[in-house]
Amino acid sequence: MKKPVKVAITGAAGQIAYSLIFRVASGSLLGPDQPVILQLLEVPVPEVLEKLKGTVMEVDDCAFPLVHSIEIHSDPMSGFEGTDYALLVGARPRGPGMERKDLLTANGGIFGPQGKALAAKASKDVRALVVGNPANTNALIAATAAAKGGLDPKQIHAMVRLDHNRAVSQLATKTGVHGNDIEKVIIWGNHSSTQYPDISHTTVGGKAAKSLVDQAWVEKDFIPTVQQRGAAIIKARGLSSAASAASAAVDHVRDWALGSNGKWVSMGVPSDGSYGIKPGIVYGYPCICKNGQYEIVQGLSVDEFSRARMTVTENELREERAAIEDLLA
Ligand code: NAD
Ligand code: LMR
Repeated sequence: MKKPVKVAITGAAGQIAYSLIFRVASGSLLGPDQPVILQLLEVPVPEVLEKLKGTVMEVDDCAFPLVHSIEIHSDPMSGFEGTDYALLVGARPRGPGMERKDLLTANGGIFGPQGKALAAKASKDVRALVVGNPANTNALIAATAAAKGGLDPKQIHAMVRLDHNRAVSQLATKTGVHGNDIEKVIIWGNHSSTQYPDISHTTVGGKAAKSLVDQAWVEKDFIPTVQQRGAAIIKARGLSSAASAASAAVDHVRDWALGSNGKWVSMGVPSDGSYGIKPGIVYGYPCICKNGQYEIVQGLSVDEFSRARMTVTENELREERAAIEDLLA
């Protein structure tokens, strides 16, 4: 057996975590031979911590072979001690009629202290994924705080993988194939209704997706459906997506840690000038992961249609940044 690694999950009493904890514990995140120490973090509110104890009882009752031990914390300074992977889920979800950026005031304040705690206490190689919304700007806040403590901002990502998976699923249904046959989907920009799900480079069973679907479907159906899927789920379920969000978080971190096997995966990472997106925001890019590192896929052509949409979502991220600039100081 390998040495156990530490996986921290914030918002551990919440609905995403109720799926995520069990996926991590069962080995879906880091493989069937990697024991884990679960560091579960919640707010210091007795009723919430009591609820979390109930979840821990259930994890115990699964007798997972890979769970080495489970810790409960209500302070990131103790909860991130030696953390190898951090899943930053804990944050308020939106309700019907809200945009995710409406959560900035409620949630932005959570991520500075967590970024600081990661830098102070976690493994120097920690990889953190921000799921809590608005994920990109929260990741920017966490990464900025973590960088002051010596971490590389590239160690803190935002999750756009749920959008990526949604795009694969929509295109698979439209073209009558399994999602496994679809490659090179991209989610550019923000995990918000301005995101740009791009199939310009996508292949379906080796054929160009663009040759299989018409542009009217892309513009009037595919793009808006993926952009609005989170809201559609809130409308249908009365609650925001949970199991699919947990699954996407597992996909993101697994590919980052274990490699994407040459496949493109969409990740919210610090903009570095690639594709003309200047530094200073966390932007969804196509990435390939290898040896625990990610690289932005380079050299793709960007037509006028794509450029316009990439700019809209970039501008929204710069506006979100301007709204929380004080949290970056
Ligand atoms: P939830 O309300 O069920 O659970 C959130 C939990 O986080 C609560 O138990 C709360 O006590 C806890 N929490 C709040 N502040 C915390 C802190 N500082 N430290 C630790 N825990 C804290 O919400 P949920 O449905 O699990 O969603 C969580 C977040 O994920 C929301 O912001 C939601 O919008 C977001 N989300 C993102 C994506 C994505 O694709 N990026 C997808 C789905 C949901
Ligand atoms: C989603 O995309 O399902 C989540 O971000 C939840 C939401 O607010 O839409």
